[in-house]
Amino acid sequence: MHIALETQPLASLATPALVTYVFEKDGRIEGSLAELDKAAGGRLKQLADSGELTGKTLEMTLVHYPAGLAAERLLLVGAGKPDKFAPGALRKLAAAALRYLKARSVTKLVFAVREGERTAAAAEAVTQGLLLGSFDSDRYKTEKKNGAVIDLAAVAGFDAATQSAGASGIARGTIIAESQNFTRELVNEPANKLTPRKLAERAQAMAREAGLEIDVLDEKRIADLKMGALLSVAQGSIEPPRVIVVTYTPEQPRSGAPVLGLVGKAVTFDTGGISIKPAEGMEKMKYDMAGGAAVLGAMRAIARLKPAVKVVAVIPSTENMPGGRAQKPGDIQIAMSGKSIEVVNTDAEGRLILADGIAYAKTLGCTHLVDAATLTGAIVVALANVNAGVFGNNQPLIDRVLSSSRAAGEKMWPMPLDDDYREFIKSNIADIQNVGSGKGGGAITAAMFLREFAEEMPWVHLDIAGTAWLDDQKPWSAKGATGIAVRTLVDLAMNFDSAQ
Ligand code: BES
Ligand code: ZN
Ligand code: ZN
Repeated sequence: MHIALETQPLASLATPALVTYVFEKDGRIEGSLAELDKAAGGRLKQLADSGELTGKTLEMTLVHYPAGLAAERLLLVGAGKPDKFAPGALRKLAAAALRYLKARSVTKLVFAVREGERTAAAAEAVTQGLLLGSFDSDRYKTEKKNGAVIDLAAVAGFDAATQSAGASGIARGTIIAESQNFTRELVNEPANKLTPRKLAERAQAMAREAGLEIDVLDEKRIADLKMGALLSVAQGSIEPPRVIVVTYTPEQPRSGAPVLGLVGKAVTFDTGGISIKPAEGMEKMKYDMAGGAAVLGAMRAIARLKPAVKVVAVIPSTENMPGGRAQKPGDIQIAMSGKSIEVVNTDAEGRLILADGIAYAKTLGCTHLVDAATLTGAIVVALANVNAGVFGNNQPLIDRVLSSSRAAGEKMWPMPLDDDYREFIKSNIADIQNVGSGKGGGAITAAMFLREFAEEMPWVHLDIAGTAWLDDQKPWSAKGATGIAVRTLVDLAMNFDSAQ
């Protein structure tokens, strides 16, 4: 879907659907709405006075053939209280409006931003909303449920003075949202269609298109590098593991500048291994590669947005299967860093593969690391499916990631990681064990394990197990993969100031 910029006056816009939004307050028909109301002979004011049009968040009021307007439909979306409103809220409003119209077989729409929001940030948020909202998880349906495909959308409300801001917002929003949808497409793929080798091929195709450097390590090179933790997970599967390394180098690299490393967990299917998971819900474990897919999506956008910082992505990928060759609870493995690990539970495999991913990223010249992983069920207990958990060993980097998450409109919340948790992963016979000794705090234990491999390097870990997948659709989103962390990682790279 292409997103255009529209600068015509709203009343004269000939389109199947003109969309704008209403705040929840007295005198809600003001500004550009008052202009539309005037053209429509006071009908909008009547709707507001009658109590039908309230402005409550995501309330949808659809007017057909509005008299006095050139549009065939006027859709007014409730925007809630104006004091709680920020441009980022437009993302959700635009996505919900698009899905509402798509379900009614409308194929073209124009979304008008209002006075006060004629900015690049607003155009970007609307563009993202339209593109993210148009995504459906129906790749394998021979008959698409939402029959209509919106083929043309535009952002309106801009005039000669503001149109260049609008155009740059649309361009940036398109890059970021298409990259997030690229991630969602990968995450939705079932494990038989997306093995580690296939994921590597998809990454290669993406890198080629984006002009990124890529190196895919096969099982032989992984063994040569002594990635014993990754190999221990992979040994239970007939599918060989891969480590995908994607590099973005800025046009004018500065010597001594920081290098941002992004590490993503990509377990293309997690059965739990010999510590096998229950059958119920196991099919969802195809999304255990969402961290790796988010990192790939972020790289796709970074290649196009060209930040000043060098970014290196490292994505260890494997299946976690039981089988005759699978590792067994109690086995001891030697990670790439040389640390010995007692694998008490084979289902805590994400931290094993990340241990080697992090160690490898450190050898590639990274100065700062951020990992994203569907790491623990415990983070779902702590934060539900609302916030991703943020852990780290360096407060300035944690603060940067949190500020990027706010700027990008992805909810994330800081979690503790103090030394008192270190004893949870003490092992009787190895340097560390891969699960805690039954004292709760499962998401923290997992992060603590990763910290042992980041060591002194500034590092942040995002546990996205609760937020990478939506069980039920929302007015603004299809169910399935959410693409969480893509926008945060992109914002982080774009603002990764070299003073760090
Ligand atoms: N992939 C899971 C974590 C997960 C859980 C992701 C729910 C998405 C939704 C991870 O590999 C895992 O199995 N973790 C275990 C760790 C436990 C054995 C210490 C868990 O969270 O139960
Ligand atoms: Zn697991
Ligand atoms: Zn897992």
